[in-house]
Amino acid sequence: MSVPLLKIGVVLSTMAMITNWMSQTLPAIVGLNGTKLSAAPAGTTDRSTGVLPASPEDSWQVYSSAQDSEGRCVCTVVAPQQAMCSRDARTKQLRQLLEKVQNMTQSIQSLDQRTQKDLQYVQRMEVQLRGLETKFKQVEESHKQNIAKQYKAIKAKMEELRPMIPVLEEYKADAKLVLQFKEEVKNLSSVLSELQEEMGAYDYEELHSRVSNLEERLRACMQKLACGKLTGISEPVTIKTSGSRYGSWMTDPLASDGDTRVWYMDGYHNNRFVREYKSMEDFMNSDNFTSHRLPHPWSGTGQVVYNGSIYFNKFQSHTIIKFDFKTSSISRSSQLDYAGFNNRYHYSWGGHSDIDLMVDEGGLWAVYATNQNAGNIVISKLNPATLQIIKSWTTNHPKRSAGEAFMICGTLYVTNGYSGGTKVYYAFHTNSSTYEYIDIPLQNKYSHISMLDYNPKDRALYAWNNGHQVLYNVTLFHVIRSEEL
Ligand SMILES: *[C@@H]1O[C@H](CO)[C@@H](O)[C@H](O)[C@H]1NC(C)=O
Ligand SMILES: *[C@@H]1O[C@H](CO)[C@@H](O)[C@H](O)[C@H]1NC(C)=O
Ligand SMILES: *[C@@H]1O[C@H](CO)[C@@H](O)[C@H](O)[C@H]1NC(C)=O
Ligand SMILES: *[C@@H]1O[C@H](CO)[C@@H](O)[C@H](O)[C@H]1NC(C)=O
Ligand SMILES: *[C@@H]1O[C@H](CO)[C@@H](O)[C@H](O)[C@H]1NC(C)=O
Ligand SMILES: *[C@@H]1O[C@H](CO)[C@@H](O)[C@H](O)[C@H]1NC(C)=O
Ligand SMILES: *[C@@H]1O[C@H](CO)[C@@H](O)[C@H](O)[C@H]1NC(C)=O
Repeated sequence: MSVPLLKIGVVLSTMAMITNWMSQTLPAIVGLNGTKLSAAPAGTTDRSTGVLPASPEDSWQVYSSAQDSEGRCVCTVVAPQQAMCSRDARTKQLRQLLEKVQNMTQSIQSLDQRTQKDLQYVQRMEVQLRGLETKFKQVEESHKQNIAKQYKAIKAKMEELRPMIPVLEEYKADAKLVLQFKEEVKNLSSVLSELQEEMGAYDYEELHSRVSNLEERLRACMQKLACGKLTGISEPVTIKTSGSRYGSWMTDPLASDGDTRVWYMDGYHNNRFVREYKSMEDFMNSDNFTSHRLPHPWSGTGQVVYNGSIYFNKFQSHTIIKFDFKTSSISRSSQLDYAGFNNRYHYSWGGHSDIDLMVDEGGLWAVYATNQNAGNIVISKLNPATLQIIKSWTTNHPKRSAGEAFMICGTLYVTNGYSGGTKVYYAFHTNSSTYEYIDIPLQNKYSHISMLDYNPKDRALYAWNNGHQVLYNVTLFHVIRSEEL
């Protein structure tokens, strides 16, 4: 018997999850599934695309339509007749346009990287799936009577999963199309480059609006691709070993590129000093930091640094304070009405962790519990400037039996405990106000997690595990629908 049962169980539950989203998600990236660019000389208008100008002879024009009859994005550059070309002062505007296209190219590159990363995951899953199938066949053949019975249930599950294989194929095809899209925008960019040389009279407004349109659609696509459902958490990487058993640490998801300052708060009460490390490297290799004294001690480990300010729960209260590091002053303070505090509704590890503040792609959130919701978790979206609640959701998950919770793309994920074997097992989607039970293992290397938060910039989970500061990567799967693009 060479098939490890436990492993199969894990794989199957992961597969089941993927089947779930796959069936809703794909076909993905529709609208991006093809871009055509052609540089047509004047007069040779190709009407088949249906987007060409009536009189191309007096201007340069770039046309991009949302979709052609085959669902592809069509981008066409039409050159004016040479005779009509007169060099003029619009070169500068064209240069800006070119820059925009170059920026788009960069966006596509990062989009492409993400797609490729997830694609690798999908491919691994596919190999595993196919491997399992072969294994089952072997087991069945060699142990017809006895052991094969044990596998019957699992095999039935396999049957359920089989339709997933073509879906995986489809995902791979979509990823290819993103690549193609990238190629073609690169093409557009170089065509524009050439045009810059000989540019004369052309309809700049038209050109501009076409590029803007393409850009807008790209952005929408980027946003969709950036978000998704949590499907996996990597092994932890220990960044530093420092501080007490409880604490929190983070980077600012809105920090500008190159700003990798690390913020560090040791302990869950009786402390008001926030350490600022100049960079992640400094944090890892030195104890060179600047200290910021907060006007009040904090409660728990639910602080978050967002856009240059720290948001924290004032000790023994349900007050949220926004403290601006730049001006070293409180820029806002507000009550989180009805939120339990003072260890009334802590996470299972205790430590006054009643109110947990966090940030995801959508902004700032507070996670807590109220008497009104019978001690179950309440999620509130907060306005980061005023700290007012924009909207709240009530869940059916008891706060005190949650290990930790973090938010990704508007979904709250809850772990089953803070010590021992840990997994993410509950998800509440704020988009649909629905919940589901999931099973995503989370390696708890040092056996006591007192803080776990997602950073949308790094796409990583920051954790404080028993005096160790650790990071996990997350795998998200995209949810894209054609009508959204
Ligand atoms: C693009 O997606 C649409 C909608 O799923 C599909 O009908 C069409 O065949 C796709 N086009 C290409 C070129 O794959
Ligand atoms: C291109 O990106 C750079 C850097 O992000 C920015 O400064 C510039 O304004 C962008 N150009 C256009 C035309 O959007
Ligand atoms: C890029 O443009 C050239 C013509 O300028 C064309 O021959 C080529 O097929 C294009 N490549 C893609 C990927 O569209
Ligand atoms: C410590 O940090 C300060 C400012 O962040 C810097 O000026 C100083 O050189 C650093 N010292 C060491 C030993 O890295
Ligand atoms: C971040 O802060 C700046 C001012 O400091 C503000 O203009 C900007 O809107 C803020 N961004 C967000 C997303 O809150
Ligand atoms: C809400 O988000 C989840 C996960 O991101 C997704 O599976 C679900 O389809 C979404 N529901 C709606 C109604 O958009
Ligand atoms: C996350 O992924 C990036 C890129 O693949 C890698 O450089 C980094 O080390 C990973 N971090 C963790 C915590 O696994």
